[in-house]
Amino acid sequence: MLKQIQAVSGLTFAVFLALHLTNTWLASLGPGVYDGMQGVLRTFYQFAPVEAILLAALAVHASVGVLRIVVEPKRTLSTRARWHRYAGFFLLLFIGGHILAVRGSSWFYDVYPGFEGLAFSISAVPGYFYPYYFLLAVAGLYHGLNGTGIALSRLGRPTALSSAGLQRATAAGAVLTVLALGGFGGWYYDVGDVRSSGFAVLTTRIAGEVLGVQISP
Ligand code: HEM
Repeated sequence: MLKQIQAVSGLTFAVFLALHLTNTWLASLGPGVYDGMQGVLRTFYQFAPVEAILLAALAVHASVGVLRIVVEPKRTLSTRARWHRYAGFFLLLFIGGHILAVRGSSWFYDVYPGFEGLAFSISAVPGYFYPYYFLLAVAGLYHGLNGTGIALSRLGRPTALSSAGLQRATAAGAVLTVLALGGFGGWYYDVGDVRSSGFAVLTTRIAGEVLGVQISP
């Protein structure tokens, strides 16, 4: 039963993840393309009932994953399954902070990060945000692709990617992520004065007032 719940909740969230990573990769084509696609996608994933289902699916999926580790501690894992678990742990550690940072601003202050918000974060603290976003995207892609195969098998439709296919797809995703981070980082074109965006003003204020940290990109 736990396996079925994990499969259905994982597949539900994977719909958002596929759209979200595709949107992120489009950042290499510039702010217009990235923000344009995000505006269209938001009408789907930020439609309140849909957003509630997606976030509930994420919470259930993560909880069942942790629960299975506790109730089935003796499971022997293949290398592929071990990497699946490492990626899952990484996502578990960072996903709450990610959602709070990039969705919290629009929930609580009506300020959407968009391209310029991410460009600001990267220009303010590059040593943290380049590796963080790279690992977030690659862990999400690997866990999502491998997990989709496992989930479909559990639901009686075995369609798992071969290990070579999984490695090639993850490597391709890693390249697309580097290109996207280059877009946010202003490697190919001028990203403008990122400090004046609403997200920059809000996060600089919160960092100063709540955390006592001065951000000056
Ligand atoms: C380089 C990688 C990533 C970047 C740059 C990124 C960026 C963003 C941004 C800007 C938003 C706000 C979206 C909006 O305002 O419409 C967002 C929301 C979100 N992201 Fe990510 N993200 C990345 C990877 C991931 C991954 C791998 C996951 C999950 C495994 C994830 C889960 C979410 C969730 C759940 C939300 C909230 C969606 C909502 O309720 O509207 N993100 N992300």
